Amino acid sequence: MIWQNKLTKLLGIQYPIIQAPMLGVTTPEMVAAVSNSGGLGSLPVGGLSPEITRERIQKTKALTNKPFAVNLFVNALDNVNLEEALAIQDFLDKLGKKHNLEFDRKSPGSFTFYSYKEQIDILIEENIPVVSFTFGWLDNDCIKQLKNNGAILIGTATSVKEAKLLEDTGIDAITAQGVEAGGHRGTFINDEPLPQVGLMSLLPQIVDNVSIPVLAAGGINDGRTIKAAFILGASAVQIGTAFIPSNESLAIPSYKDRLLQAQDTDTQLTKAFSGRWARGIRNTFMTETEQSGLTIPEYTIQNSITGPIRAAAIKQDNNQLTNMWSGQSAPKIKLETCSDIFKELIKQTESIKSI
Ligand SMILES: Cc1cc2nc3c(=O)[nH]c(=O)nc-3n(C[C@H](O)[C@H](O)[C@H](O)COP(=O)(O)O)c2cc1C
Repeated sequence: MIWQNKLTKLLGIQYPIIQAPMLGVTTPEMVAAVSNSGGLGSLPVGGLSPEITRERIQKTKALTNKPFAVNLFVNALDNVNLEEALAIQDFLDKLGKKHNLEFDRKSPGSFTFYSYKEQIDILIEENIPVVSFTFGWLDNDCIKQLKNNGAILIGTATSVKEAKLLEDTGIDAITAQGVEAGGHRGTFINDEPLPQVGLMSLLPQIVDNVSIPVLAAGGINDGRTIKAAFILGASAVQIGTAFIPSNESLAIPSYKDRLLQAQDTDTQLTKAFSGRWARGIRNTFMTETEQSGLTIPEYTIQNSITGPIRAAAIKQDNNQLTNMWSGQSAPKIKLETCSDIFKELIKQTESIKSI
């Protein structure tokens, strides 16, 4: 199988296989393992402080001299509606007590979420070769600055309309994120119902409507799904959920175990954890928050409100009161390290001779 294409040359990688950025799960070790295997690791830094952003980049650089991507959240930041925030906090206090989980609520005035604009200088100083982003588009100044520094820019689209808008901003490639994908939907055009297009429909339609390379994300977890994405016109695949059970992942043990037993219908889209649509395995938090009938504040406010209860649940390895982001295709390759998972993906894809 010939793996090299225009995009692999642009990115300076051997295999067009990208480890999806997964904030909360991805470590510098995961990114380096995939980049050192010949793919492209992606370091998520969405909403993090400039200091932590630099620290994680430098840690990754210490583990690999191969290219890796840094991933940004490019959403606008909302103001807190105090009444809504307090109602959700009261509900979470009760939810924690009911399930014997102690945590302190934070004052809504102390919620912090950094804009990507505070991270751009660091990406330039650190000479990051690939910058991917989700939840919108980069502003013109940032595009200019990053491009002048030689970075390749990759945006995320969940519809043809979003893909065309991103292409018009002058970026280099687009990730087509199918509705199967784990974690947050990258959707940013909110003038119509949430796009829920499966990758098999979305990918060829985006490929037909833009002239830049398209990466496929959502439900890719073995050789067959990789091959299918290339047949549908992808220039690369971006894989998330399949790497979550690895040793290099930050996922708690009960999340990894649950993921390895997941069935096709176990995930759903929810706004309960963050105020933004995201796909995860159904659990107590999701069900009870949705049944509360309360208005869920927008992202990033709900994300900040639920932070303390999720952190307390993680400490206790409680997978019912924190998010278990997952795509519709559970991990199929049950190997321990990211480099072994990566090698197996290559082997399986190469063993498919014909269709
Ligand atoms: C745990 C988790 C966290 C994620 N965090 C991010 C993120 O920080 N930035 C981003 O662009 N996408 C994020 N995503 C979405 C992935 O980039 C990608 O679209 C998705 O994992 C692909 O689908 P799959 O999980 O079925 O492979 C996340 C996905 C998961 C599962």
